[in-house]
Amino acid sequence: MKDTSTLVAGLSLLEKASLLSGANTWQTRAIERVGLPAVWLADGPHGVRKQVGSADHLGINGSEPATCFPTAATVACSWDDALAEEIGAALGREASAQGVGVLLGPGLNIKRSPLGGRSFEYFSEDPELSGRLAAAYVRGIQSEGVAATPKHFAVNSQELRRMVSDSVVDERTLREIYLTAFEIVVREADPWAIMSSYNLVNGVYAHENAHLLTDILRDEWGFAGAVVSDWGGGNDAVAAVAAGGTLEMPSPGFDSARQIVAAVEAGTLSTADLDARVTELVELVRRVTTRPRAVADLEAHHALARRAAAESAVLLRNDDDLLPLAENASVALIGAFATAPRYQGAGSSLVNATRVPTLADALAAAPVDIVGVAEGFRRDGRPDAALQAEAVALAARADVVVLALGLPEIAESEGLDRSTLALPEEQVRLLRAIRGVASKVVVVLSAGGVVETPWLADATALLHAYLGGQAGAEAIADVLTGAVEPGGRLAETMPVSLADTPTASRFPSADRTAEYREGPFVGYRHYETAGVPVAFPFGHGLGYTTFSYSELEVDDAGAHVTVTNTGARAGADVVQLYVGRTGDSGVLRPVRELKGYAKVRLEPGASARVSLPFGARTFRFFDVASGAWLVEAGDYQVSVGAHVGDLRLSAVVSRGGVSLIPRDAPVTGAATTADDDAFAALLGGPIPARDWSEGPLGENDPMDRMAGARSALARMAFRVLDRRREKAERAGTPDLNVLFLLNGPFRVISKMSGGLATRRLTAAVLTLVNGQSIRGLGRVVAAFFAGRRAEKSTQKAFDAAAMNRSA
Ligand code: BGC
Repeated sequence: MKDTSTLVAGLSLLEKASLLSGANTWQTRAIERVGLPAVWLADGPHGVRKQVGSADHLGINGSEPATCFPTAATVACSWDDALAEEIGAALGREASAQGVGVLLGPGLNIKRSPLGGRSFEYFSEDPELSGRLAAAYVRGIQSEGVAATPKHFAVNSQELRRMVSDSVVDERTLREIYLTAFEIVVREADPWAIMSSYNLVNGVYAHENAHLLTDILRDEWGFAGAVVSDWGGGNDAVAAVAAGGTLEMPSPGFDSARQIVAAVEAGTLSTADLDARVTELVELVRRVTTRPRAVADLEAHHALARRAAAESAVLLRNDDDLLPLAENASVALIGAFATAPRYQGAGSSLVNATRVPTLADALAAAPVDIVGVAEGFRRDGRPDAALQAEAVALAARADVVVLALGLPEIAESEGLDRSTLALPEEQVRLLRAIRGVASKVVVVLSAGGVVETPWLADATALLHAYLGGQAGAEAIADVLTGAVEPGGRLAETMPVSLADTPTASRFPSADRTAEYREGPFVGYRHYETAGVPVAFPFGHGLGYTTFSYSELEVDDAGAHVTVTNTGARAGADVVQLYVGRTGDSGVLRPVRELKGYAKVRLEPGASARVSLPFGARTFRFFDVASGAWLVEAGDYQVSVGAHVGDLRLSAVVSRGGVSLIPRDAPVTGAATTADDDAFAALLGGPIPARDWSEGPLGENDPMDRMAGARSALARMAFRVLDRRREKAERAGTPDLNVLFLLNGPFRVISKMSGGLATRRLTAAVLTLVNGQSIRGLGRVVAAFFAGRRAEKSTQKAFDAAAMNRSA
């Protein structure tokens, strides 16, 4: 193949434009005459999902078997960059072995609210932890010659109306909370691609947001790869090219290509912008097509998945050292999740696992005496007195009850935010009934996020296993029996109740905008600053041994501390570094923020000197006025500890920098949520209108607004979709296609049609939806046939270009 610039120079305008959207659901376009192959893109973040048969993008149709690793929310609890890199490399090998060039992950959006439907796919509420782990995945994936695609860039925090919701966020919060993780991944791991998100950010769709894609991503951070749109997330194809969006996926046929050609011919899009995007795409293709396919050792990957799940399981409570279970203890194993594990979430990340052992199988092979297994409750939440009675009777016959509770499938899905943090009532009722007859109850939770724990007093031990991937059940057995330590520490706060979360009153937003009024006070930044008590703090987790911290020294290079294993077993601890201003600050900031961590493994009685280095991010804040990262002059408290609520040692250090006038009001309580005036001040301008306009529906209105459409036909279409949604939810499995449509805008009709529908057709459908039935119908028919003709003639021109030029 020629070098990239010669190759690009030799392409026709139509060929260039055509390269910037997909050929089908999963592949880029090939241009054979110049030797440019098509490449496969596939999800995803915790396992390869390559669909070879009939393709949809939401994991509904089957995919090639692959290892299902623990989801990101789980691995985040390991706080182990090396482990994340190992998983990344395994993902890269499986992708390569299946001929996938671009893997669509990891997902690193910040968990603004624990209700976020895709929380299970994301790492943390903290950008430092999210960014470092994501960077490790990227290094691993790309070490196998496969492109990683960190996603979703950016500020994509809710599923409700995810393709039309406008995240309104002030610049400082944007930089410090929502972009820092992406900055880390770009600067430290050089991803070859990145996926823009569905939503708008401050009024502009992410895939055509020049501030995000050009000013910040490319100019400031030096990103040199391709920006891939989320599936159906492209809006204005021409604006995307100008703003830095490289590849629109999946395939809008040649519709976008024609728009790009027309814009170049009309002089409204520069050839330089077009060539820049085409160069990025060609470079991506080249980077992922240089190596032969790898061979993946699926047995080794299953073993890695098992180790990772145990390293990430968080032991939250362990009264009387109930865990690890005594050898040959008699155990009653109860819970629907014991015989059918919950190990991943629903949506585009769904992996067709190579095998999924159950907890019942895994414990049967362990040195405990299982006296019986009972289901205890129905997964769909409906009461079942007989199941409960059987389980309680079993519980009375054993020394210890292992009770596998968790969230049902429907609770954690792409396209659907959670509505509660409570465990299903029937499960709590069962726990209470069991506690009436058993004094030792180990609750094992399977959920991709946090739950409220008002029932905590009834659990002697509580292990949050998150969603452990295909070997998750074996890992739980390993931890329960003490074959391995529970290595996890919470990567998100477990609040006492939903009402305590900083976004409780406004998440998810059904309005046109989602207002980020909490500013930087996300997760522990809110609880610590406002003094809100929590159930389990960020960073918390127990092991089977104990550690002490001593001899803190802080110098210019960082904090150094001695950690000693004071218990009787070998084990690992996660040493965490938090930094905050001591006195009043000139900027609105959380009292402390995570700035470093290290996982240390120690034999009993052994000590290690652990260094947590300072870096460019340790003391900085983003100064909106100058558009630069600055350090505020003054004193900082540097603390080291086992979690954010357990800071064992602290020192105060002075830093030079800009002198700011302290703010007059210290931040406390409700002040972490801005009122109208404060929010407008944060935004530096008026708060954008949040209501949907009352006028006719447009191509970027969500389709669920057909509920109030002028046309009876459209209202009926809404009811049909909504009924299907309800029916699926009652049955316990989300209907992802229906959710996609209801949350999505009308423009997806053309964006997802593979060329069957054009933008003009979408406009015609809207005429109909807006009540002009006869005219609308006529327009639909005309637009459909015009679209077919246009597709045919573009295809012909594309093929002819290929033939002429190769001749
Ligand atoms: C999801 C992405 C995913 C893509 C392709 C979208 O709906 O938001 O995370 O990579 O589909 O499956």
